[in-house]
Amino acid sequence: MNVVFLGPPGAGKGTQAARISACYGIPHIATGDMLREAIARGTELGRLARSYVDRGELVPDEVMLRLVEERLQEPDARGGFLLDGFPRTRPQAEGLDALLDRMHRRLDLVVFFRVPQETLLRRLVGRWICRAAGHVYHEDHRPPRVPGRCDLDGSELYQRPDDRPEAVARRLEVYEQQTAPLVEYYRARGVFREVDGAAGLAEVTRRLCAILDEAGMGRV
Ligand code: AP5
Repeated sequence: MNVVFLGPPGAGKGTQAARISACYGIPHIATGDMLREAIARGTELGRLARSYVDRGELVPDEVMLRLVEERLQEPDARGGFLLDGFPRTRPQAEGLDALLDRMHRRLDLVVFFRVPQETLLRRLVGRWICRAAGHVYHEDHRPPRVPGRCDLDGSELYQRPDDRPEAVARRLEVYEQQTAPLVEYYRARGVFREVDGAAGLAEVTRRLCAILDEAGMGRV
């Protein structure tokens, strides 16, 4: 199954994608994580991406399309993928269609996470991420057992530079202008499903599993 999680910043895409990826055995491909890793390693892509990511702007479409094309050709993505944070613009969505055509594959499901704006703001400013593997916490909804440390690997937790209030405001604006129109793009294609992302973590997972099971996706 080839699946896309679509939704605004802070909607819970990354948190849920990690759970779904483990449960259904398909790779979680998060373009934001790939960019942050490149930034941390100081690669050419990282140096380019940093100026966009920290300000809450989108990295140019052609850069993102190249990155995703390379990733989808890796062996673990041949049996299916779960894209999180891509596509984010109309040219990216069209580019993904063309890429899948060339690979003789198609998109099976696009799941949209609907969450009110005030909830998104609270989620983003309270988010903490683990330095070693990107595990995600929230100071209210999912606090770590030991403050400042990841439950799973003990590494330090940090706050993303683009979770500062001015960058969050810009990310939400960019989402409305460039990504929200993709809801109609995919709705018209018959692959579109929606989940109430404002529900509790476990409830959102339960509803996502129901959607994926109904679509015929097998669990591991
Ligand atoms: P990216 O990393 O993709 O960020 P995003 O889309 O802004 O998404 P987030 O990671 O902020 O939110 P999420 O939906 O994953 O929420 P999460 O699960 O963490 O992109 C970052 C940047 O990279 C972009 O701004 C751009 O510059 C660049 N970029 C990336 N992809 C690109 C592309 N395709 N094109 C161009 N540029 C690109 O949850 C948030 C918090 O809420 C957490 O603390 C979590 O614990 C909590 N939470 C989650 N669900 C619940 C719940 N149900 N109840 C209570 N709390 C919850």
